[in-house]
Amino acid sequence: MTEKELQAILDGMTTEDKILQLTQMPYVYFKKDGGEITGPVKEMGFSEADISRLGTILNARNQSAVTDLLENYQLKNGAKIPMAIMADVTHGFKTAFPIWLGLACSFDEQLAENCSKMAATEASVAGVSMTCSTMVDLVRDPRWGRVMESFGEDPYLGEVMGAANIRGFQGNFGRYNVAACAKHYVGYGACEAGRDYNTVDMSEYTLRNVYLPPFKACIEAGAQILMPAFNIMFGVPMTMNNKLMVDILREEWGFNGVTVSDYNAFPEAITHGLAQNEKEVAYKAFDAEVDIEMATATYVKYLKELLQEGKISMAQLDKSVMRQLKLKNKLGLFENPRYSYSEEEKQKLFLCEEHRALALTAAEESAVLLKNDGVLPLDINTESIAFIGPHANEKNILGAWVTECSPDDVTPVLDCVKDVYKGRVSYAKGCSWDIDDCDESGIKEAVEIASKVKTVVLTLGEAPNDSSEGCSKLNLDLPEIQYKLLDEILKVNKNVVVLLFTGRPLTIKRVHDKVRAILNMWWPGTEGGRATANLLFGKKSPCGKLSMTFPITVAQCPVYYNHFNTGRPRSDDSKRVPFCSGYIDGPNKPLYPFGYGLSYVKFEYSNFSLSANKFTAGESIKASVLVKNAGNIEAKEVVQLYIRDEFGSIVRPVKELKGFKKILLNPGEEQEVCFEIDEKMLSFYGADLKYGAEKGTFIAFVGSNSDTDYSIKFELI
Ligand code: GLC
Repeated sequence: MTEKELQAILDGMTTEDKILQLTQMPYVYFKKDGGEITGPVKEMGFSEADISRLGTILNARNQSAVTDLLENYQLKNGAKIPMAIMADVTHGFKTAFPIWLGLACSFDEQLAENCSKMAATEASVAGVSMTCSTMVDLVRDPRWGRVMESFGEDPYLGEVMGAANIRGFQGNFGRYNVAACAKHYVGYGACEAGRDYNTVDMSEYTLRNVYLPPFKACIEAGAQILMPAFNIMFGVPMTMNNKLMVDILREEWGFNGVTVSDYNAFPEAITHGLAQNEKEVAYKAFDAEVDIEMATATYVKYLKELLQEGKISMAQLDKSVMRQLKLKNKLGLFENPRYSYSEEEKQKLFLCEEHRALALTAAEESAVLLKNDGVLPLDINTESIAFIGPHANEKNILGAWVTECSPDDVTPVLDCVKDVYKGRVSYAKGCSWDIDDCDESGIKEAVEIASKVKTVVLTLGEAPNDSSEGCSKLNLDLPEIQYKLLDEILKVNKNVVVLLFTGRPLTIKRVHDKVRAILNMWWPGTEGGRATANLLFGKKSPCGKLSMTFPITVAQCPVYYNHFNTGRPRSDDSKRVPFCSGYIDGPNKPLYPFGYGLSYVKFEYSNFSLSANKFTAGESIKASVLVKNAGNIEAKEVVQLYIRDEFGSIVRPVKELKGFKKILLNPGEEQEVCFEIDEKMLSFYGADLKYGAEKGTFIAFVGSNSDTDYSIKFELI
């Protein structure tokens, strides 16, 4: 469609048409009793004709839903504007890859892009044209259950992974692409006490230097949709926050895509105490240029009245509707609304070998080896192994937010191990994964088989949906029954390897201190079983690096690597230090830092150097380091570059990730890894909230995690 043709469509729309275009209803709201509409849309007063004019439908993700929309609403009412299906396509549509907190540990943006591209392909043949992903909320507190959807605690990693996601989903807006959404704008992951939907309060420095960059990266990568978050920022709910939604998003960043509210967020402004009634909600959200109201109908109820009162203008309404028409046009929906797709095309794409292979790679590259005294990799011919734990023989290793992905398509870890392992494998569940499980009846059998084998592989961790929306936790420990199972097993066999399945960092020091190895699989997705077997027996070496800090105790939270130094940093973490920023009853340091992850080989870093130790604006210097694989198998390493700005117009973090390179090295191979350090890399929002680099001294660090102290000083003059 040309702009002129789109304008003609807009000109032909009634005011009701336009307002319905700005309204999105969840498909589950369409209850059908013999063709008669019931359910919430009925209570909201929508007629069948209204429904056919809705701009978008949420989460109509299967054939019957899409056919229903086509036959009963689009063709029947001769809709001129195709209804788009927007869906939560997160870490896969039918083929699940690891949760994003895990995939971020791959530090592999091409892999991330490929995974989103795969998800878009599967979703698009199921009628979806817009996704509610990618979630680029930065998170420093694992008590917040939605950390599983995020890329963790680092702004730079969030920028890289967010942009990769946008590219993967959107591609060139072809038949197998979907429009992508940057969410939840902004600061949702900074909810106080890690409690979902809780208050968010931060300085504009922190907002601009830490939480906004991943969103800006998504907009710069061409994200077509943005979703404001449930929380407040500077005291105003994001859904009606003009400073963020208009001044920064639309004017400063020039975003001209579509904004869609989160689920029911409109009327929640009344609960927040910002609006006194739904009419005020509709006005304030519209004034903040929110283009689509999700799951509620204040626009339908009040925009016409607000127009008649002159509070809003038809020009504003047209601008909002036109943004959506342009997006649908960009997606080719006027020519193909994607409601007709063949079963045979679905079967060809859903869970196809290529997609399963990608999911396998993603699961292997996301796993993080947290401890290993040399017991891993296991010898494929070891005489006997006992697999114990609630995840070992379990199909549901997908995690939350899995849309149409099904555990039915998963081969459990135990079966995958049996496919490759020559020795004897025994199994016992031991206990469930429920956080309140206290049924010890399975422990006896588990101990029995543990006593008869050389090695025990014990799975510990969460239940798949215990990290998700509305799943904040007070306690990051494992359920006591899992510690009991571990302790009883250790009484008969010290040779214990733990597989961790989780959607968030957990406080597992009690496990770390007692076992020989810990391999964190996160929620690895459809091919997680095979990936686990490949890593356990050394077909591949783990190479994941933590996208988020693992605290020693929940009391340390929020705990993150890129913290400020304070005026009284703790000088010694091993003992009580008076009058310092520390605790009298424990350490400041976490159990595992950001960027941490072991390998089956040792990597040796040497010859770290800079091409010059000072440079001026407009110039750059090169940092280089030699990395050697000192092991006997090929392995990947994520070489990380951190920079500290020693002095600034505002205080600066002790370290910030500014670059990473993932390299594959054969045994004995050595490679030079280089990074270019320039002024942009040193830029931030300073005391005057102007963006730029400040002259002065800096420290560059390289290494395999954020704890590295392998450093060189340099100067921006
Ligand atoms: C949920 C989530 C959001 C999701 C939306 C639609 O409440 O906050 O991430 O995309 O509703 O399901």
